Formats: sequence, structure tokens, C-alpha cells
Amino acid sequence: MTTSVSLAEPRAQDAQQHFDIRALDAPLGAEVIGLDLTQPLGVADFARLHRAHLDHHVLVFRDQRITPEQQIAFSRRFGPLQIHVLHQFALPGHPEVLIVSNIVENGKPVGLGDAGHFWHSDLSYKEKPSLGSMLHAQELPAEGGDTLFANMHLAWDTLPDHLRRAVEGRSAEHTYLARYAELQARSPWRPNLSAAQIAQVKPVEHPVVRTHPETGRKALFVSEHFTTRIVGLPEDESRALLEELFAHSVREDFLYRHVWREHDMVFWDNRSLMHLAAGTPDHLRRKLYRTTIEGDAPF
Ligand code: SIN
Repeated sequence: MTTSVSLAEPRAQDAQQHFDIRALDAPLGAEVIGLDLTQPLGVADFARLHRAHLDHHVLVFRDQRITPEQQIAFSRRFGPLQIHVLHQFALPGHPEVLIVSNIVENGKPVGLGDAGHFWHSDLSYKEKPSLGSMLHAQELPAEGGDTLFANMHLAWDTLPDHLRRAVEGRSAEHTYLARYAELQARSPWRPNLSAAQIAQVKPVEHPVVRTHPETGRKALFVSEHFTTRIVGLPEDESRALLEELFAHSVREDFLYRHVWREHDMVFWDNRSLMHLAAGTPDHLRRKLYRTTIEGDAPF
């Protein structure tokens, strides 16, 4: 009897790594332990990560020595990438990578230093907001610089009846420019926008309560950064309702605070969460690379 031995190289799609996915002691999030994103990621491992991302909404990958090219390639496995309207802060040679940084060199900011200053879901001001974002730590401050995440499924599940009735079936307007002037007045990171940039961020309308396209779960989808009004309500009523929704969305028991460690890569689901940069002391340097994956039009 003869045995046939395959001499072919193992295929990248068959690669398998040994890793664990451990839920965090928080209302969202899981840590992926033992996976090396510099190595090929086979189909089965990718499927596990995809499932975990849907279940936990934030995946924390520790100690990832990946290059921007590897971050881009991993991000693209989940969908096409979006290019931020502030292309001034793209990583040179990689328009898909937004530099999030408070560092100023030779009088020039190297990245967007006040990204995440207000609670938001990335690119909710686009017709197709972001599915998810990946943030890879490059340089971290000795203190501060945490990122907070709020679980918008829990926000919807626990929304008091009178607020549910007030928002069900309604849409809200989102615009990139909602608080741009306010941010510009106090930071060096908000350049004047060109006509072409303004044309890229026309206001859009999205349902106040969206359905996650992959899990079917409902989530509140309004944010203090980008949502300007509830369509069809008088201005004062709309503002009062939005304030109630914003306050409810970020209740302490819906939050996870990510305290960054060197080489962390964090991947979150913008369809399920909002996030906030908690702030870095001015004298400390912080730099991260962000990729943003395009999602579906919310329904
Ligand atoms: C962001 O909003 O994408 C930035 C979050 C952060 O810097 O912590």
C-alpha cells in the first residue's frame, strides 16, 4: 500500500493558532489571548474572531507588533476601509490609516489630537457609517489616555418606556460639522475644511434605533458629537429628548474603560457601541493608528 504525502506548502487559509477569548469583567469586551496578528490568520480562526466581535463588541489584542500594512490587511478582512475626511492626518503612504495623536512636531500636529473628545460612533455622519474601527497603540502616555466604550444595546434594552415611545420609528440627523467650530475654537487639530471636504460630509438621517445587521439586536444610535436633531420634532422638544438619550446611553453600568498597554490593538463594533477618548494630560505624548471599516446603511 502506498501513502501519498503532500509536499505543498500549508495554505494561509488553513493556518490555525492556539488562542483564547476571555470576556472582560465589564458590560462589553473580551481579550484575545495568544493570537499573533503578524502571522497568517486562517479561515477558522477568522470565523472565531468574527463571532467574538459580534458577541462582545470590543476585542482587545495584547502585544501586537503589527505594521500599518498588517493592520490594514486585517481590517480589510471585515470590509472595505473608509478614508477620514481630515486626510491631513493620514499616515503618509497609507490614506486608510488615521493618526490619532496629541503630538505637535515643529509646530505642526502629527495627527488628530482631539479625536473622540465627545461620545460618538465612528462616521455616523456618513450614509454608510463604520462597521468597526481598529486602534493600534504606537506611543502611550504614562497616565491618562484611556478610551471608554458604551454598550448601546443595553442603552436600548433599558430605555424607559416614555423614551421608547418617543423615539420608535423616528430618524435623527447626523452631521460631521455639528461641533466642528466648537472643537476648532479650542484645539490646533481642526483645520479649516476645504469645499471638497465639506461636500464629503453632507448631513444624513439615520434611525434613532438601529438593528444590528448581523445579530439583529437593536441599539440606540444617537451621539452627543454628531446628532443634531430628531427629524419631525420642534427644536426644543428634539433637543430635550436628545439630552435625555445621551445621558441614558452612557450610564456607568453600560461602560468599559480601556486602559491602554504597549502594542494593544483594540477592535470595536460601531453598530453596537459609542466611544470616548477620556483625555491625555497636555505634556504627555499619545499616538495610535486607526483604521475604519465601512458598514451598511443603518435600518
Ligand atoms: C477615536 O475616537 O477614534 C479615538 C479614540 C481614542 O483616541 O481613544
